[in-house]
Amino acid sequence: MRFKNKIAVITGASSGIGKATATLLAKEGSTVVLNARKEEQLEAVAAEIARNYTSPLVIRGDICEALTLDRLVQKPLEQFGRIDIWINNAGGGAPAKPLEQITMTEWNEILNRNLSSVFRCCQKVATVFKQQQYGRIVNVSSLAGRDKSLLAGVDYSASKAGLIGMTRHLAALLASDNITVNTVAPGATLTERIAQRWSTLSPEAQQKIIDTIPLGRLGKPEDIAPAIAFLASDEASYITGAVIDVNGGCFMS
Ligand SMILES: NC(=O)c1ccc[n+]([C@@H]2O[C@H](COP(=O)([O-])OP(=O)(O)OC[C@H]3O[C@@H](n4cnc5c(N)ncnc54)[C@H](OP(=O)(O)O)[C@@H]3O)[C@@H](O)[C@H]2O)c1
Repeated sequence: MRFKNKIAVITGASSGIGKATATLLAKEGSTVVLNARKEEQLEAVAAEIARNYTSPLVIRGDICEALTLDRLVQKPLEQFGRIDIWINNAGGGAPAKPLEQITMTEWNEILNRNLSSVFRCCQKVATVFKQQQYGRIVNVSSLAGRDKSLLAGVDYSASKAGLIGMTRHLAALLASDNITVNTVAPGATLTERIAQRWSTLSPEAQQKIIDTIPLGRLGKPEDIAPAIAFLASDEASYITGAVIDVNGGCFMS
């Protein structure tokens, strides 16, 4: 039980990679704090985890809003007295648009969702972690932040590359307080959302993408969660500022 007595906050926990990560941490002993915007899906994941493991704390709301972030930090502190692990997973992009058609509103919205919101989360939870002299932050970036992207737009790539730079800088800033900050960069992963987009591609277009992946398939949320869990665990206590690529070998650093 790697996460026995640990309190872990996971943003975007109601589907895909966030759901798989929350489930894995709960399975390995953590009490999990689940966040997403839509109630029904979030409550369904909470019920499933409660049935199998420990009952989660659910905090619904948009991670881009200050009120949600305040509650996401305050409520676990009130209930459990500490937070050990913070997984910045909520995020995503829209299908790529031609360069000329991306508006500044769209650009700012993607940067806010994928980068600025994570900065605000890290800033806020760092204060708690400093007091505890313990904390693990894991940020979920993307292959699109490491290499050119076949499916995502330039706004998404910029936000996810920014996340990696921010992770390294924060890792250096917070290391002396026994806080680690790391990143996982998944390749294309078959979540429900991606499966929907995938099904709109022709078999030839799908094969073209598969041909870029040495391991010959898209990822599954269950392929990504163990890398996130490892970086959140005490086994990774001497790793900070790192990026783990989980992409079937299509980008090797
Ligand atoms: N799937 C991939 O191929 C892939 C590849 C590389 C990186 N990633 C990254 O991995 C992370 C998870 O992706 P995923 O594919 O698992 O996504 P997903 O299946 O679409 O799930 C996204 C989760 O985040 C929540 N969410 C979205 N915006 C939010 C917000 N503003 N505030 C709070 N919750 C929010 C969603 O619930 P609500 O909509 O109810 O809020 C949902 O729980 C993202 O950061 C994504 O960029 C994914």
